[in-house]
Amino acid sequence: MKSLHFHHKVVQVSDVDRSECFFRDVLGLEALGRDRWPDEDGPTSTFKTQVGQYVVLVEVPAVDPSRAEHWNFMVTPEDFVDVQRRIRAEGCAIGDLREEFRAVGEMSDNYYDPDNQMMQVTAIAPEAYETPPARRGKVLAGRIEDFPIGSVTHNEEGKFFIVRTADGVLAISEICTHRQASVCYQSEHHRFYCPRHHNKFTRVGAHLGHTPGTPPLHTYAVEFIDGAIVVDTDTSIRRLPSEAKRMAPVPGADEVLSRA
Ligand code: FES
Repeated sequence: MKSLHFHHKVVQVSDVDRSECFFRDVLGLEALGRDRWPDEDGPTSTFKTQVGQYVVLVEVPAVDPSRAEHWNFMVTPEDFVDVQRRIRAEGCAIGDLREEFRAVGEMSDNYYDPDNQMMQVTAIAPEAYETPPARRGKVLAGRIEDFPIGSVTHNEEGKFFIVRTADGVLAISEICTHRQASVCYQSEHHRFYCPRHHNKFTRVGAHLGHTPGTPPLHTYAVEFIDGAIVVDTDTSIRRLPSEAKRMAPVPGADEVLSRA
């Protein structure tokens, strides 16, 4: 299988002794030794991550600020606590610069290395991969005739959308199945969009791309009571991609698959 990971990352440093201490003692990378790369001009120090990637510090007369880029160490949630404590004790941490984008269970800290180059440490706990229900109980969405065929209507209280097609009704959770942000509906494109990592979903919640493997948006059970639509937001329903077009038929109609 093709690996998506890099083999080695070269980091310019102005003092390899000083940076070696930081990458070994503060970040906790495994030090492999000095000058193992004959092609590099200056002194080097090489480290290995837990997943076998190499980080190579190369001493240069002046660190080129234009080489600054966003790079990120992924660690386990347990290791994150240790690494964060060490970085903060060193006074290098500058906090999570994208805190508003984090899901429950996602942890991240930005920090400066001894040459003021900004990097990031991130961990993702299992709960970040969950898609929780809104848990607002049973919510009265409105009367069936309030939702014309072809409409998509947001229910703020219940955090869902009522999607009405000729084939029935679907109550789609607004909570993104990627990392729990709230999707919005883009009527001009007939799709849902999540601003956090730019995933898109069809009008019935099927995933359209960006982060492969993201499941369809969850749905909620719908009841039709005396002509009203009632949505149970305490349990959200996972769907396989092949199930994303299944609608709840309005009373009196047989269950059919949407042509959406
Ligand atoms: S949370 Fe990542 S795309 Fe929605």
